[in-house]
Amino acid sequence: MQSSADPLVRQLYQNHSYPAMSHPLADPAVTAVAARLGGLTSAHPRQARILEIGCASGHNLLPLAKRWPQSECIGMDLTEKAITDARQLAAAAGIVNATFHAADLREFDPGGEPFDYIIAHGFFSWVPDEAKLALLDFCRRHLAPAGIATVSFNLAAGWAHRLPVVAMARDLQQVTGGGLIETLHLLRDTSDGTTPHGGHVRWIIDDMLAKGPDILAFDDFGPVNDPWPFDQFVLAAARAGLRWLGESDPAENIPSALGNSSRAALGPLAAHPLHAQLAADFAIGRTFRSGVLCRDDAPTHPGLTSDGVFNLAVRAGEVTPTGTAPLGNTFYQTLAAFAPACVPMLEILAAMPDADRNALARLAFDGINRGYIRPRIEPLRFDPRPPERPCLNPLLLACARRNLPLVDVWHMPCAFPAGHYQILAAMDGTRTCTELAALAHARCPELAVEPWLLHLAGRGFFVPDEA
Ligand SMILES: C[S@@+](CC[C@H](N)C(=O)[O-])C[C@H]1O[C@@H](n2cnc3c(N)ncnc32)[C@H](O)[C@@H]1O
Repeated sequence: MQSSADPLVRQLYQNHSYPAMSHPLADPAVTAVAARLGGLTSAHPRQARILEIGCASGHNLLPLAKRWPQSECIGMDLTEKAITDARQLAAAAGIVNATFHAADLREFDPGGEPFDYIIAHGFFSWVPDEAKLALLDFCRRHLAPAGIATVSFNLAAGWAHRLPVVAMARDLQQVTGGGLIETLHLLRDTSDGTTPHGGHVRWIIDDMLAKGPDILAFDDFGPVNDPWPFDQFVLAAARAGLRWLGESDPAENIPSALGNSSRAALGPLAAHPLHAQLAADFAIGRTFRSGVLCRDDAPTHPGLTSDGVFNLAVRAGEVTPTGTAPLGNTFYQTLAAFAPACVPMLEILAAMPDADRNALARLAFDGINRGYIRPRIEPLRFDPRPPERPCLNPLLLACARRNLPLVDVWHMPCAFPAGHYQILAAMDGTRTCTELAALAHARCPELAVEPWLLHLAGRGFFVPDEA
């Protein structure tokens, strides 16, 4: 994909604001663990230099700057309007450790020290080849020796099924002059859902329709949407002097969608890890990866030791394993008892004084790789009950006042129906739950306030009441 697409990319982002989003897989609290699993101990993000490339309106970067005030966060993006929005949101939230630059990556000189974390989410597959390679080259030149870059990209394995749908819909639109959604419906209705092929086409179109026109214009139908095979990405990274350390979600190093028998079937490829990855991508029709890269001269080690496991913090994943041995049962019960907190592994060990330390490390390691346990580089605790006077921090309040998604403690974005933002914007610590319920009753009577407040508290949105 050559740079003739450049003007179209510019035009799209200048004329349409990219939806504000945060990306849990790009959270350095998470990617620092992925790096350790891959054999690199990066700087602690609480005091680090963090750069986001293609940061749009700063919705991913600002919560990180808020969380780690000692870190220095820099965002850059081609689109002036997005950068202006990011600066305004930072100012409204009183965030002083984040700066934003409007620039083309290919001409951007960040100056200063190298970066401990570089984030490029939703960038690689959406820009011409020249900018893709410039990104990899930039990471090599501006990463600290133990720095890591998190780069997400679309994968050819899964997109091989979707791109023909995109091409067909585009062709039909040319002929009929119809709208995109209307054209997708036409294609869907033409496919016979009772046949394997038709069923698959319908499944793809339903998935596209679920994204809605705003996202589709940037995503499936963006001016550049250039999925690569995994080996092409790893090779391009290697040519730039970068090494693949693993997926930012360790549970996706072997795709979680692969069942046990499929995992076992990959056995003969154990000596060919790259081909095992390609076969797994192909088998599940993987569409997306978020990879962690480091410099090829980074001070790597063989991987996480059991001592290293006890330096992590952990919380229960969405799924709990079944049929585990007694030690495993106690381990997962102990983890659940701490929920929703993410607690140091050492605290779990202390709560299980009879457990064998090495056996526990192995359980944790396996749980992390299977997604039963969600690790972080630092613990996180909060009260899952609403406080007497619900109060959002200044960043969340500024987002609520702009009808923007709020980002929870796990760095997940959470969007609300328009009316609910009015109630969120009133959560500045001056009103009791009862007063907020009265406000909601008047402004959005359909809202069940009590469970809603509980839900918000469960996502860690509230500043704790002062003792
Ligand atoms: C798909 S959006 C992703 C935004 C955000 N990173 C996210 O994932 O939510 C791609 C972003 O990259 C920016 N971009 C595209 N080409 C660029 C370039 N050459 N230099 C800097 N930014 C660029 C666009 O302006 C846009 O904000």
